[in-house]
Amino acid sequence: MLIPVILSGGAGTRLWPVSRSAYPKPFMRLADGESLLYKTLDRAMAVADGGHVLTVTGRDYYFLTRDEYASHPHADLDKLPFLLEPAGRNTAPAILLAAQYAISHISPDAVLLVLPADHLIRALDTFAADVRRARELAEDGWLATFGIPPTQPETGFGYIHVGAAIAGREGSEVAAFVEKPKRELAEAYLAGGEHLWNSGMFCFRADALLAAAAQTCPEVLAAAEACAAGAIAQESPVEYAREAFLAQPDISIDYAVMEKAARRAVVPAAFDWSDIGSWKAVSDLEAESDEHGNRVRGQAILVESANCYIQSDKRMVAAVGVNDLVIVDTDDAVLVAHRDRAQQVKLVVDRLRADK
Ligand code: GDD
Ligand code: MG
Repeated sequence: MLIPVILSGGAGTRLWPVSRSAYPKPFMRLADGESLLYKTLDRAMAVADGGHVLTVTGRDYYFLTRDEYASHPHADLDKLPFLLEPAGRNTAPAILLAAQYAISHISPDAVLLVLPADHLIRALDTFAADVRRARELAEDGWLATFGIPPTQPETGFGYIHVGAAIAGREGSEVAAFVEKPKRELAEAYLAGGEHLWNSGMFCFRADALLAAAAQTCPEVLAAAEACAAGAIAQESPVEYAREAFLAQPDISIDYAVMEKAARRAVVPAAFDWSDIGSWKAVSDLEAESDEHGNRVRGQAILVESANCYIQSDKRMVAAVGVNDLVIVDTDDAVLVAHRDRAQQVKLVVDRLRADK
């Protein structure tokens, strides 16, 4: 039984001032009015067996997330259980708790499909076909990931060294998994043509994941088991005791399991994929550009300006004689940044937090 697990956590600080801790990236709406989270639910429901979709998210986002789900015409909230975290402990605890819940509450044969809530995938048919490939591998006991053909030496992603083809299946073994390599290594991987980006989406049997975790990170698994056993509410929304939850190590599934596990497989993704990591990525995706390469969402007047991205919901933004800027206007904050420095917007958030 395929059960998608939506992971929704983290503030997405590089998309400030729209993404913030009270309103993080998954809730950000794209030009079509749908949020990334809504699109993720839609994608999950397209492949889920029996309509079950698990969501692991922060306690503070429960109502916001439910409202978002309730707006989906085919969502049956009774089949959309929530596991609520008192605070983020990264992806390994989140996924291990989801695996335990799926086995004990939904099906001992659960195959999980882990879907981060802040990715954008447009081609649903291609996505569903790749999920079928990954699911076949998962049913054979492999821990499958989806590999994205790299287009630049990105250092914010994990890289998968593609190994031997797996007989009778549409996928390959993972020869090595390298989480967030240094620039030179990323450049070598890109040039070598034997590596794919790790999409951060996974497909495995819940019991196979727990068995792998028992080998690669027994302390993380033990902490997750203790946390699940002491949960305050066992039925959805599942709530965990703060102390037991925070006793879990803060570690990603990539470091805790995928880098070290034995039977890892990769399905090369045929679908389009974007981890919307910065305003530059948003602008590349979003709107049509004018003849000077400017993209606008909302109201703006540009005079002798080129290659700018402007987003403004309420106020008119006017720019004269400027190039390569990102300008994002919200009710209480305005961002002005050079588009090539879009990654550094997170430094603004660091400063805001330090000044608090
Ligand atoms: N519920 C929950 N709780 N979700 C979390 C938590 C948590 O504590 N921490 C992270 N997530 C969610 C994020 O919201 C995001 O959707 C996803 O898990 C991945 O976490 P990131 O923090 O964004 O990971 P990353 O970008 O550094 O790296 C991962 O994703 C890359 C692709 O986007 C890795 O898997 C890389 O290998 C991969 O290339
Ligand atoms: Mg990410």
